[in-house]
Amino acid sequence: MTKTDKNLKSAFSGESQANRRYLAFAKKAESEGFTQAAKLFRAAAGAETIHALNHLRIIGETKSTLENLETAVLGETFEFKEMYPEYINLAKQEGNKQAVWSLEVANKVEKVHANLFLRAIDVLKRQKEMAKIDYYICGVCGNTVEGAPPEKCPICSAPKASFFRAG
Ligand SMILES: [Fe+2]
Ligand SMILES: [Fe+2]
Repeated sequence: MTKTDKNLKSAFSGESQANRRYLAFAKKAESEGFTQAAKLFRAAAGAETIHALNHLRIIGETKSTLENLETAVLGETFEFKEMYPEYINLAKQEGNKQAVWSLEVANKVEKVHANLFLRAIDVLKRQKEMAKIDYYICGVCGNTVEGAPPEKCPICSAPKASFFRAG
């Protein structure tokens, strides 16, 4: 990997984080009545996404869909098998209940994602088309559900109305 590839990778991380940070700032601005500041944050967030995607494309990290699904499984599996369990233990030791909640729901959802991706790999490997279904995301914990939202989120107990359809 060249130094420039490394730089692009690091810039990809930074831009990706800036995107999410600005969306969080936009939400906050909205709640404080600063509608225009919220708009500005969302505009910049959109631009940071363009930068992040450009960097990633130029490094060559977006491959075939089958390879991308495999990359996704590896990432999710690392998160729910290694990263989150370790973080959860530490957060418990430190008595940080909010962190434990946030890390635990993410941990559970990454497992859901790994399974969804694995099933998609299976379908693609058999040269079949994936079933045309909708995905719903829990607005509280990120749980990702196929078909229709459940009455109650099985991960965080949020009501059906907390779910929104993925675009
Ligand atoms: Fe995930
Ligand atoms: Fe949830």
